[in-house]
Amino acid sequence: MKVVAFNTSARHDGNTAILIRKVFGELEKKGIETELIQLAGEKIQGCAGCGVCFTRRDKKCAVAGDPVNAYIAKMIKADGIIIGSPTYFADCTANAKALIERAGMVARANDNMFMRKIGAAVVAVRRGGAIHAFDTINHFFTIGEMIVVGSLYWNIGIGRQIGEVEKDEEGLNTMSILGKNMAWLMQKVCA
Ligand SMILES: Cc1cc2nc3c(=O)[nH]c(=O)nc-3n(C[C@H](O)[C@H](O)[C@H](O)COP(=O)(O)O)c2cc1C
Repeated sequence: MKVVAFNTSARHDGNTAILIRKVFGELEKKGIETELIQLAGEKIQGCAGCGVCFTRRDKKCAVAGDPVNAYIAKMIKADGIIIGSPTYFADCTANAKALIERAGMVARANDNMFMRKIGAAVVAVRRGGAIHAFDTINHFFTIGEMIVVGSLYWNIGIGRQIGEVEKDEEGLNTMSILGKNMAWLMQKVCA
């Protein structure tokens, strides 16, 4: 079993990555393989609205020149998908939204190909807007017939500078519980 996570922050190894790794810790304890893909430095464009994915139906996006098709291939192989984002202007990052639009549309063009995979959003925030970012990411999972895992609070961690989320005990605990719940569900559903 495998979980692939996308850290869509512009900062490599920032707070979002720290939170995702906390989830990974619990998954790995249960023998679930993990892979973190960090999008910092990548320029990912949104859906071009060309509809080519519906005519080709080859599980690929027709927009070339960026790594989105490689990301889609990783999603296809994984049993669980985490999309992590810092909060940018009370929403997810532009890269997160672009990934959602393109992977989401290719999935729709190919019989909802992420159907029944396990999904979770992870959000870093300084102060406000995390719930909006969390909701945006969950729309990707829930329109794709995926199964969304929760924790004992919404999956957010608080911090501004890199590493500050380490001080948010409740946020870290939320991620640990999320990892435990994700592992539990995957063992029931994907075994
Ligand atoms: C362009 C930009 C917009 C941001 N907008 C918000 C915001 O709306 N609300 C907030 O609480 N923090 C905001 N932040 C702060 C980040 O969410 C916060 O620093 C987060 O921990 C960054 O995570 P990272 O280290 O994974 O990049 C913003 C940061 C940037 C760079």
